[in-house]
Amino acid sequence: MSFEQTKWVWMNGTVVPWAKATVHVSAHALHYGSGVFEGLRCYETKDGPAIFRLDAHLERLYASAKVYDIEIPYSREELADAICRVISRNEFTSCYVRPICFYGSNGLGLDPRNCPVQVVILAWPWGPYLGSEELEGSVRVTVSPWLKFQSQMMPPTAKACGQYLNSILAVRDAVTRGYDEALLLNAQGYIAEGPGENLFIVRDGRLHTNDESQSILMGITREAVIEIAGDLGYQVETRAVRLDELLNADEAFFTGTATELAPIREVDGRSIGNGNRGPITRKIQKTFFAATQGRDLRYVHWLHLVMEPAHTL
Ligand SMILES: Cc1ncc(COP(=O)(O)O)c(C=O)c1O
Repeated sequence: MSFEQTKWVWMNGTVVPWAKATVHVSAHALHYGSGVFEGLRCYETKDGPAIFRLDAHLERLYASAKVYDIEIPYSREELADAICRVISRNEFTSCYVRPICFYGSNGLGLDPRNCPVQVVILAWPWGPYLGSEELEGSVRVTVSPWLKFQSQMMPPTAKACGQYLNSILAVRDAVTRGYDEALLLNAQGYIAEGPGENLFIVRDGRLHTNDESQSILMGITREAVIEIAGDLGYQVETRAVRLDELLNADEAFFTGTATELAPIREVDGRSIGNGNRGPITRKIQKTFFAATQGRDLRYVHWLHLVMEPAHTL
């Protein structure tokens, strides 16, 4: 990942040069993680750059903000325009986009209500999170000693900055032990999710994935994959998934905006299926990329073309 190609950042209503997009060290969010964010991808299509599932991401951003009482001082339309503006000002044809809304500087008591809400949108070119090789099936996963927090502690369905310390602990542990990615179980001992991905398994030609009852972020890629799998004629069961079911699965893969769709080769040294990307994973992956790149007309409604907005924000 590199920020080198990013020249412009949208910050509190205006586009500013990268070097000017700074925040004071006393910002509440820096100390306590009191912010919410989204991660979107913009793909190159024959009609120009297009953002995948922009509406769904904005919906989730506002829902996350509501949980933490963060009043976003812009409408959805304004943020949609701002996202398009950042992409086009940077002249990106494809990129990752990171809107973040957080409490700024006005005191460090734990109640942030008097701190101003700041909104920033970054964009940068970012290849698949787990590496392009992994699209062919070489993600090596370990079950994390860290459990996913449960909804009585913090809401897993909200995408809030401080909540990601749980993910960071899991990733640091996995990488230190030589794995590509972690898998977190929940407090009940069922599979929750990866640090930044949802999980699917394939058994006997059917897909299985869990839902919010298992302490996961309800992924937008997950939802797209459920629809694509259904359109391809596969049954998808949404239910709690046990670790032994993953270990005995024919195929397994992670989904996420950054990760896209990454087949899992092994879990703690045990091969999943024959250790290669399975045929159902490959088919879903193929349709997913056709959808994101505007090559499958069934899914063009998921794409929002990046146009320079008419009015200036
Ligand atoms: C904890 C967590 N789970 C799942 C996902 C996948 O969600 P999405 O497909 O909406 O990117 C993400 C990434 O946003 C995540 O951070």
